[in-house]
Amino acid sequence: MAAPRLDLDGEEIKPLKICMIGAGGFIGSHLCEKLMFETDHSVLAIDVYGDKISHLLQPGQAWSDRIEFHKINIKSDSRLEGLIKVADLVINLAAICTPADYNTRPLDTIYSNFVDALPVVQYCRENGKRLIHFSTCEIYGKTIGSFLPKDHPLKDDPAFYMLKEDETPCIFGSVDKQRWSYACAKQLIERLIFAEGAENGVEFTIVRPFNWIGPRMDFIPGVDGPSDSIPRVLACFSNNLMKGEPLKLVDGGLSQRTFIYIKDAIEAVQRMIENPKRANGQIFNVGNPHNEVTVRELAELMTDVYCKVSGNARPEVATIDVTSQEFYGVGYDDSDKRIPDMTIIKRQLEWEPKTSMYDLMEHTLTYQHATYAEAVKKAMSKSIAT
Ligand SMILES: NC(=O)c1ccc[n+]([C@@H]2O[C@H](COP(=O)([O-])OP(=O)(O)OC[C@H]3O[C@@H](n4cnc5c(N)ncnc54)[C@H](O)[C@@H]3O)[C@@H](O)[C@H]2O)c1
Repeated sequence: MAAPRLDLDGEEIKPLKICMIGAGGFIGSHLCEKLMFETDHSVLAIDVYGDKISHLLQPGQAWSDRIEFHKINIKSDSRLEGLIKVADLVINLAAICTPADYNTRPLDTIYSNFVDALPVVQYCRENGKRLIHFSTCEIYGKTIGSFLPKDHPLKDDPAFYMLKEDETPCIFGSVDKQRWSYACAKQLIERLIFAEGAENGVEFTIVRPFNWIGPRMDFIPGVDGPSDSIPRVLACFSNNLMKGEPLKLVDGGLSQRTFIYIKDAIEAVQRMIENPKRANGQIFNVGNPHNEVTVRELAELMTDVYCKVSGNARPEVATIDVTSQEFYGVGYDDSDKRIPDMTIIKRQLEWEPKTSMYDLMEHTLTYQHATYAEAVKKAMSKSIAT
């Protein structure tokens, strides 16, 4: 018999039944894999789409009796409460979370990130269930540093950009900048969950992801998603690279972001799941402060790595500039720089990210190329023929 797995305090980890909402998405699919391949936990996987976990749902696999897929839209399905009732832990990942939607579909964004999450919190409170809720690093909005004059001596001081869960204020743009609809909705649900913890004793953990990337993130327009939709930056740039088009840099690609490999981030979530005493009542930044690049640098890196993994020559024109209004429509705004402070997660969960920017990009673009390059070529030749 295999030795029991132990938590960070040396106690045996008991198998849990986890109700995972949004399990069919990018993060959910990796979390389901981790739980099926490396633990004894069971998953009630809820989503409107199941394609990204279909490989886990085939019958006859070692974990087949530990995962069930429920095709449910949580906006309007009375089965949700029953599934929460039979679970030990609820993880809520369901959301509209693509920047292109924030100012073109602000109502859907607000409903999805706030209103649709309300019954989940309510059922957790009424049934005494622990909740791990996925928020976002967008919650911090703009940095204090971005408001300093250009030539201010503190302009480059990291202290003005380092985002701390328990200190940094949330600074959003004006209401007509609908970009902030997502961050505001996420902030309000965070505040509600925090208040449920304080007033009603709900056991919760809030996760603030800082640009988790890797295989299965979003879709390639016209291949496994609508041709007129804009996915997040990784899929956007991958699509351009596979088509041999220049990568579009919004407003000069000057924004700075940190990127973390999905598999590192999933390790952190597993620690939250299996160490409730250390994770309850906490808000965790989950990112990699060492992997910081401007979006322009990201485009350069992706071009280099894609040429390496595909064997293609480097294009003559690698990038072109577009305005945010052209790319995202009216109401777009951005935050300049986001560096996660890792003090709390290091202290509570003894976790640190491992994968470098180059390595995470190499793993991810190898997957993108193997999965999509042929289909992109076919889609392009079809559109030329018609
Ligand atoms: N990937 C990141 O780096 C990142 C960054 C910040 C925040 N987050 C947050 O993490 C969570 C998961 O993100 P992701 O990258 O996996 O996104 P994703 O879009 O790949 O996954 C979300 C999943 O939720 C499902 N969903 C949405 N509304 C639903 C509904 N009404 N009923 C049932 N299912 C529904 C979608 O079908 C999708 O499969 C989100 O809450 C997101 O805001 C992610």
